[in-house]
This record gives sequence, structure tokens and C-alpha cells, in this order.
Amino acid sequence: MDNIEEARAWARRQRSRGDSVALVPTMGALHRGHLALVEEAQRRVERVVVSIFVNPLQFGPMEDLARYPRTWEQDWERLASLGTDAVFAPSVDVMYPNGPALTRVNVEPLSGVLCGRTRPTHFQGVATVVSKLFNILQPDVAVFGEKDWQQLAIIRRMVDDLNFPVSVVGVPTVREESGLALSSRNQYLTDDQKTQATALYRGLATARDRYRAGERRREPLRQIVLDVLSGAGIEPEYVELVHPDTLAPAPDILDGPTLLALAARLGKARLIDNVILGRS
Ligand code: PAJ
Repeated sequence: MDNIEEARAWARRQRSRGDSVALVPTMGALHRGHLALVEEAQRRVERVVVSIFVNPLQFGPMEDLARYPRTWEQDWERLASLGTDAVFAPSVDVMYPNGPALTRVNVEPLSGVLCGRTRPTHFQGVATVVSKLFNILQPDVAVFGEKDWQQLAIIRRMVDDLNFPVSVVGVPTVREESGLALSSRNQYLTDDQKTQATALYRGLATARDRYRAGERRREPLRQIVLDVLSGAGIEPEYVELVHPDTLAPAPDILDGPTLLALAARLGKARLIDNVILGRS
């Protein structure tokens, strides 16, 4: 499906049969992480639609919009082999027929922290396109990955604030055996950089081990990650501990579940990863 009328008609048909619909929004270049979202959606509802749209609104002027990987044939095959019910892959003109949308969805202050500091308009672009997809397909369920925790937190808050009739489901991060979180942007890495990048999760996992061993002081936990990264020659953009829902800075002594998140630039790629401390 590549136009809005068709997508709406498909969704309406499913609901009139009494089937629930789950939406899995993606930008394509699908990997096992994306497929895990589709499988989770399939476990929850009768019909699953995957959207593939490289959303210009969420890329900054100096970012990788033009070279973002586009692997349409392979994406299609992967989705078909999973038994995905429908794919919505609109063009930019279909999604933004009047040029960039003038109406934007801002989820402040969640979108200004962590990745928002270096990508100031990114989450506005995400929240706006996800609102459009919700309005077009009116899904009962929408599935997102915890790999992009900030995005997930922003969508949850947006759905709450604006009363979208959709239930948001988060899926744990799918990783390579090395621990590296799967990402479409890993394709930008050389083999050496891919090895170097395993330090991201190693740092997070080391801090989580120390948390499990009883460390509750924020700064020492943060320092553990910084040490592992610097050992691998990585200077991160940020390593932060924040509240998992509000993304507000964690107290000096952690007093509940805490998001430990980081971003780092490696060669041509900007990579992110996170773990939750204190989640059972
Ligand atoms: P994209 O980067 O294609 O990711 C689509 C979905 O896959 C997101 O919910 C993301 O969190 C999830 N995902 C990516 N890598 C994952 C991994 N290793 N394990 C589990 N889930 C993973 O995120 C976007 O696209 C866009 O911002 C979008 C929401 C589609 C709006 O344009």
C-alpha cells in the first residue's frame, strides 16, 4: 500500500471483521530487531501492518537522510516470510503533500534531553510522523523497540497527553552475539569499528552488574561506563542516568528503576544504546 486512502480502507476492513490491528512503524533497512517487533505484534493481535517511511522531518540538515539505507526488496521479502498482513510504504509526497507539515507535535521537555541535545528537532519529527501514522491506520496496538528508549518514552507520553486510542508496547533490544545492538546504521561501520562498538553494551552491562552487586551511587555507575568506553578509544556524546518515564536526571543515590543511556559517534555512524537498572 502506498497511499492513504488504501491504507485507511485496509484498516477499516480488518476492524469491521472484528480483527484488531497492530502497527509497527519503521524506516526500513529491516533487521532482526525490527522483525522481533513484528513477531510481538503478531502475538498480540490478529492483523499486523508495518510502515516503511524514511521520514525527512526527523533528520537534521547535516544528518544522513540522503544515505540512509534503503533495501526495499529485501525488506519486503523479510516481512512476507513472517506473514505480515500489510505494508504501508508511502512516498514523501503522500505523507507531506503540502511540503513539511506546519503542525508539529512537541513532547517537552522529554525531547530536549539525551539525544535531543544534539538532535534538537528529531523527536518533533518522530512524534509528528507517528501521529500521522496513528491517524491514518488507527491501530489498536503500536509496537516500538526499547533500543530507542527516549523515542518510546516520548510516544507513550504523547499517546497519554493526546488520548490516542492505541496501546503502546515496548520490545527489548535485540543484539548481536557480541552485545552490539542491531541498528540499520551499523551498516556504516567498518569491521574494526564494529568491534570497537561492542564497548557500548559492555560498558552498560558492566555498570548493570555493579548495580546488581549493590552500587547505587549515580556517578560511580556512570564512571564505569566512561572507563570502558575510553578503554576502547570511544569518546561518547553522552552517558546519562535518568528516570525511565520522565527522563529527568536521576538522584545522586538511585532510588528506583533508572535508565542508563548513551550515544557515541563512531566513524560515519552515531550509535545509541541503553539498559534499565533495577528492572525485575
Ligand atoms: P527505525 O530506526 O527503523 O526503527 C523502527 C523500530 O524498530 C523502532 O521502534 C526501533 O526502536 C526498533 N528497533 C530498532 N533496532 C532495534 C533493536 N536492535 N531491537 C529492538 N528494536 C529495535 O525508529 C524509527 O525507525 C523511526 O523513528 C520511526 C518510529 C519509524 C518514526 O519515523
